[in-house]
Amino acid sequence: MIQVSTRSGLDRALAQVGHRAGGQRPHLALVPTMGNIHAGHLQLVKAAKLRADITAVSIYVNPTQFNQSDDFTHYPRTLDADLNKLAGEQVDLVFTPDSEEIYPHGETLHAQVESPLAAFGLENSHRPGHFRGVATVVCKLFNLFQPTSALFGKKDYQQLAVINAMVNELFQPVEIIAEETVREADGLALSSRNSRLTDEQRAVAPLLFSTLKTVANDLTHGADYRELEQNAAAMLTTAGFNVDYVAVRDRTLRTPEPGDRNLVVLAAAELGKVRLIDNLETAIAATEAA
Ligand code: PAF
Repeated sequence: MIQVSTRSGLDRALAQVGHRAGGQRPHLALVPTMGNIHAGHLQLVKAAKLRADITAVSIYVNPTQFNQSDDFTHYPRTLDADLNKLAGEQVDLVFTPDSEEIYPHGETLHAQVESPLAAFGLENSHRPGHFRGVATVVCKLFNLFQPTSALFGKKDYQQLAVINAMVNELFQPVEIIAEETVREADGLALSSRNSRLTDEQRAVAPLLFSTLKTVANDLTHGADYRELEQNAAAMLTTAGFNVDYVAVRDRTLRTPEPGDRNLVVLAAAELGKVRLIDNLETAIAATEAA
């Protein structure tokens, strides 16, 4: 496994693995991460290895997508363990840049990619500017790697939509692959932030997903989705969550129209200082109260 930390080193490494050669390029699949590699990331790596000749992972805790400096400071950084896990999966190339490499002109004075889905609220209402940071760093990584495909987890559903929109609207020649959320046995979606939950919070955390399942189930019985959103938020609040939103949307993240069958239930809520997000796709008609 090659590890490089500079843009010029990355260029040389890509040439070494044949990705800068003329003619037919090998398929390079990129898994962008912020490190603290867990089974969810490893599923993306495994899926990448199935489709690609070269599997590359980037590890970079991107400051411009954090709204709170506290969240950025406490984001778990476990580089040595991450490299071991990735070597165990026979990853070909790992890129571990610092901010000098990604934002050589500073974090504020740089060309930015505006989030194309800003109007849809959800994460954007609670984390203004977050998706601008995500889209900008992912665009930079795509420009540096020029990957054939890139893999993202569905846990960050709106992030996936933002990246798909960016690639479509900016004609970026990369195929975006979405992988299912990996969960603990009790349903909690794997996330690097889970390690910051206290034992007490960890015991409550699976309620987020079970609430999404309740909403999805009640949608099958024709309940008004707006009432379900309110009831679910109230249930989570009673259980100790500080709820940002529970929302039923269509798969493009627009408010559902009567008769829409392909929906997604999304939620974001804090337990103490740890913000959890999750979602559940469902294929059921939503009905609205008259
Ligand atoms: O999902 C993440 O870990 C990050 O948002 C990403 C896509 C690596 C961009 O920093």
